[in-house]
Amino acid sequence: MAAGRLEPTRVGVIGSGVVGRALARGFASRGHEVRIGSRDPSKPELAEWLAGEDGHGVSAATFDDVAAFGELLVLATDWSGTESAIDLAGRPSFGAKVVIDVTNPLQYREGGPPVLALGHTDSGGEQVQRWLPNARVVKAFNIVGNGLMVDPQLPGGPPDMFIAGEDEDAKGAVTALCEDFGWVVHDLGGIEGARLLEPLALVWITVGFREQAWAQAFKLLRP
Ligand SMILES: NC(=O)c1ccc[n+]([C@@H]2O[C@H](COP(=O)([O-])OP(=O)(O)OC[C@H]3O[C@@H](n4cnc5c(N)ncnc54)[C@H](OP(=O)(O)O)[C@@H]3O)[C@@H](O)[C@H]2O)c1
Repeated sequence: MAAGRLEPTRVGVIGSGVVGRALARGFASRGHEVRIGSRDPSKPELAEWLAGEDGHGVSAATFDDVAAFGELLVLATDWSGTESAIDLAGRPSFGAKVVIDVTNPLQYREGGPPVLALGHTDSGGEQVQRWLPNARVVKAFNIVGNGLMVDPQLPGGPPDMFIAGEDEDAKGAVTALCEDFGWVVHDLGGIEGARLLEPLALVWITVGFREQAWAQAFKLLRP
């Protein structure tokens, strides 16, 4: 489905790790106004990134500032800190906004790939939706490494992004921006589709660990 280009929007990215930065750069490159959030927005690593080419057009702020600023919000936090980040951002600021949930509920282990902290009958996406009952949560971008999230250039053609969420308009907006970032989008239905997307992320992560290869994305092959 081609949903057209997302209108210029104020985007608040909650999370200043590699994912938050990759998506912030992507949004800024498409003309959106972008703030990236951290508990410490002046931390040197972030300041250095902001001053470089990739940080062009992005400003840093606290989680609460970013959540109040963004018309569209992105949740890109470590799973174990996600509820705390939401609390720091201030739940009322999420309102009925579109929230792109990029998190994966990972539990890390010594000497091997991580495992999921929950699954089968629940998912991180559903937990985020329960934490933010009025927000229009859309799970997206969790099945690919940050290096390929925006403008993935792969010899096999544009890869496939799978999304899940309850609100059709929110998914339309997320579809538009995924397409703008170079993806073919498939809608898995309601937010319980995150039960499929989070294990799918582990396929990518486990291949990465075992083959020491991280630049890969999924694609459905059809006749
Ligand atoms: N790495 C990838 O390529 C990739 C791909 C797909 C999905 N994901 C998922 O995307 C999410 C972000 O991944 P990432 O690698 O960019 O970064 P990350 O290291 O998993 O998370 C970094 C962010 O989490 C915040 N955070 C950590 N503990 C916190 C706490 N107790 N309270 C509040 N905030 C806390 C940090 O805040 P501060 O800025 O204050 O330190 C930082 O902004 C994760 O859930 C990950 O599983 C990652």
